[in-house]
Amino acid sequence: MKALVFKAIGDIELQDVADPAIQDAQDVIVRLTRSAICGTDLHFIRGTVPGVAKNTILGHEGVGIVEEIGKEVKTVKPGDRVIIPSTIGCGHCSYCKQEIYAQCDNANPHGPQAGTAFFGGPQSTGPFNGMQAEKVRVPYADAMLLKIPKNVTDDQAILLSDILPTAYMAVEMVNIHTNDTIAVFGCGPVGQLVIACLKKIGIKKIFAVDHIPSRLQMARDQGSYVINFDEVDPVKKLQELTNGQGPDRIIDAVGIDAQKSNRLADIFNTKEFKEELDKIVPHPQPDNGNWVPGNGPSQALQWAVKAIAKAGTISIIGVYPQELTSFAIGAAMNKNVTIRMGNCNHRKYLPMLLEWIEKGEFNIEHFITQKVPFKEIIAAYKHFDAREDNWIKVVLLM
Ligand SMILES: NC(=O)c1ccc[n+]([C@@H]2O[C@H](COP(=O)([O-])OP(=O)(O)OC[C@H]3O[C@@H](n4cnc5c(N)ncnc54)[C@H](O)[C@@H]3O)[C@@H](O)[C@H]2O)c1
Ligand SMILES: [Zn+2]
Ligand SMILES: [Zn+2]
Repeated sequence: MKALVFKAIGDIELQDVADPAIQDAQDVIVRLTRSAICGTDLHFIRGTVPGVAKNTILGHEGVGIVEEIGKEVKTVKPGDRVIIPSTIGCGHCSYCKQEIYAQCDNANPHGPQAGTAFFGGPQSTGPFNGMQAEKVRVPYADAMLLKIPKNVTDDQAILLSDILPTAYMAVEMVNIHTNDTIAVFGCGPVGQLVIACLKKIGIKKIFAVDHIPSRLQMARDQGSYVINFDEVDPVKKLQELTNGQGPDRIIDAVGIDAQKSNRLADIFNTKEFKEELDKIVPHPQPDNGNWVPGNGPSQALQWAVKAIAKAGTISIIGVYPQELTSFAIGAAMNKNVTIRMGNCNHRKYLPMLLEWIEKGEFNIEHFITQKVPFKEIIAAYKHFDAREDNWIKVVLLM
């Protein structure tokens, strides 16, 4: 089959690989009909989330048709149309029972302390081959897979595989009340769906921070007040907009490839960012403007801690690697800030979100700005990596 394979930092290839096969009684093989590209995949290729093993198939978003089932699988059968959640959980350990699937004791082959297991990730997360491929092996199928109702399209379903539950969890973690103010850092696909979820639960005072005009425009179209950090100091602006207090809640939907401001480059600590970057990705491999690591790894977090109201809450859904050890803990502690963070427990949120979509209560399909045939995946990656206008959510037609 054809699959998108990680070769090295800055090097991916679409190539022929062996078809996946059933290995365990709870496995199924799914023939994918949709996949997608995520900001997390960019971290791997830029090298800012290091450790992806050579020849790992990338991709952790998928919708498809069950083709083959292991001998103990009971809830799905060949021919069923299913959503595959990005993170893998066994469904029966003490963590999965609490729906903390991202910390399952059993799914990660490196043991109970190894953390999240997910498709198409670094060696330390499995590795499990991913879903930018014609087929995928899904472990723990009975606990993981969700059948797609007839009136839900593949395009709606693919957003449920990762980014909608992720956005919803970011909102849940921030513990917001109706009249609170909130700033969303990052207006990529995850940030856009965070804003959509905030609106869905009735939040009105939303500030969106980014520096890419087309992404800010999309956030503005959703009714947010937008802040371009290349034009104004986002911390000062957020304080101005909240009577000097700062937003009550902040969501970081940026992650490790954060950029520092062009405008404020000389004020903020460029040397510190360079040291952070050298530690995380000592050998970046930029290629013709692509795969360039962000030049301010902890920038969004620093702004979040500076801007947050006293006793406010910060929710970190952007991905950071083990190698990042700097965080403004003193400033956060002295403001009585609550910080929640983590990899998404996708399967927890799927039944509720699927119901919203099935009933027509939540329309999100328009966040898919590009539908690209699978054979054009490398070009699509490059457009998305370069943040070209209207390359926001890229869905792959398999
Ligand atoms: N925790 C999880 O389970 C989970 C799941 C999915 C995605 N993610 C993460 O969410 C993050 C966003 O994903 P995405 O697909 O939207 O990625 P993306 O790369 O398309 O979006 C990131 C956005 O942040 C903006 N940005 C850069 N520096 C900034 C700064 N200093 N302040 C404000 N905005 C800044 C960029 O311009 C870009 O628009 C990534 O880190 C991704 O890995 C996490
Ligand atoms: Zn993702
Ligand atoms: Zn488990």
